[in-house]
Amino acid sequence: MEFDLIIRNGVIANASDVITGQEVGVKNGKITCIGFGLPASDSTSVIDAEGGFITPGGLDSHVHLQQWNTPTGDTWETGSRSAVCGGTTTVIAFASQNKQHQSVLPVVNDYAALAKDNSSCDYALHLIMTNPTPTIVNEELPFLVKEHGITSVKLYMTYDAMKLRDREILDIMVATRRLGMTTMIHAENHDMIELIIETLEARGQTDPYYHSVARPQLAEAEATYRAIALSEMMDTPILLVHVSSEAAAKHIRDAQTRLLPIYGETCPQYLYLLSERLKGENFEGAKCVCSPPLREKPEDLDHMWTAIANGTFTTFSSDHAASKFNIEGGKRLGLVNGRPFFKKIPNGLPGLETRLPLLYKGVQEGRITINDYVRVACSNPAKLYGLHTKGAIMPGYDADFTIWYPEGKMKPFELTNDMLHHDIDYSPFEGMTFTNWPRWTILRGKVVWERDEGGFVAKRGGAWGEYVKRGSSTLRGSRNVFVNEWRPPI
Ligand code: URP
Ligand code: ZN
Ligand code: ZN
Ligand code: ZN
Repeated sequence: MEFDLIIRNGVIANASDVITGQEVGVKNGKITCIGFGLPASDSTSVIDAEGGFITPGGLDSHVHLQQWNTPTGDTWETGSRSAVCGGTTTVIAFASQNKQHQSVLPVVNDYAALAKDNSSCDYALHLIMTNPTPTIVNEELPFLVKEHGITSVKLYMTYDAMKLRDREILDIMVATRRLGMTTMIHAENHDMIELIIETLEARGQTDPYYHSVARPQLAEAEATYRAIALSEMMDTPILLVHVSSEAAAKHIRDAQTRLLPIYGETCPQYLYLLSERLKGENFEGAKCVCSPPLREKPEDLDHMWTAIANGTFTTFSSDHAASKFNIEGGKRLGLVNGRPFFKKIPNGLPGLETRLPLLYKGVQEGRITINDYVRVACSNPAKLYGLHTKGAIMPGYDADFTIWYPEGKMKPFELTNDMLHHDIDYSPFEGMTFTNWPRWTILRGKVVWERDEGGFVAKRGGAWGEYVKRGSSTLRGSRNVFVNEWRPPI
């Protein structure tokens, strides 16, 4: 057997197992063999992992790039570059419908055109639906599943520009159930938040910190349970995105215990950052405004780690939704006549490149196992979103890898923003110390990041990043179990 690439001396980690003493053989972008003493020919590249972990390439299934609501954020070029430099080989980003759009087909084509030939990693798209007309739901969704491999939608229960009523969510669920799609839900109670914001503003409490006061855990927990109830009634799988609080995670866990197809996602910011970060001098708090907001207490962070380790969280993604802090002309978004106005601060943090190193830190600190890492950062996102050749190191799968340093080999460093490859002027994780980082990132057999030598080596021009048409979820879906004798329309 001939190989294009052999990775030797690594510890292969999958979601279920850790394999030592074996080598990985790659041919034509696919893993073709895992075995002992694989033969190298003159044309074989060999990587010596020196005892470090070889994990499947990271799959970031929640990324916002070039959306209309992040005009100062990353492009596909800078975002995907940043992704691979942090070990991620596939991103799923959003095509986002505006309420005015009467058809989502041009929307999807426009977003796909932005990514095409500009991505250094493989990519796929979810659809954000904000105006589910009967034509879109009944005719366009089936077309998108079949022709574009878009097998998931994201729905919002909050934000004036995006929010759907429960009835609209239910109508969409009839279609997603029929089509075997995964429905992602941003769950926060809009009316609670709106009332709190109005009263805070009337009292002059408009600093960035009040963003966190305006969106209490209770608002997240209520909407999370409501989304679960809608899903249960419709017998349709959902994923609660960017879960930030124990109360919401508990609802998800209770539903899972009852075998409902309820999935959860959390993000690095909810493992490391607290709402005190919103209090910085000179409007610095604006750098950490995301929704749901950072929570109050160190225990809140511990609960999120626990929910990864005990399986409540299915996926771990960045929710990269970046905006520059200082924009051209000396301006800052969220300042109105020089005064902070938290409602005007773009929501979302940069995090594509730091996602995997931050999760790996949890492995080093014994909070989660390397298998947990692979499960939430690679395998489950692949299964839930129908990327059937990604997320595992097995013959037949795409040769996407993140290779880590053996412990003790990398010189520890304190993160500064200039080490990162995004086009954002800060990282909320600056100042943190890292003792490991992706040493190599490999996309379908090609090295796209080598930290010690060439750095970022993927070419611009999409030569390497390809659009992936997705299939259906292979995690538990509709079960034909109903709340009473009523059945959803088929
Ligand atoms: O604050 C966040 N998460 N902004 C990005 C958009 C979203 O809701 O995911
Ligand atoms: Zn409103
Ligand atoms: Zn969201
Ligand atoms: Zn998001």
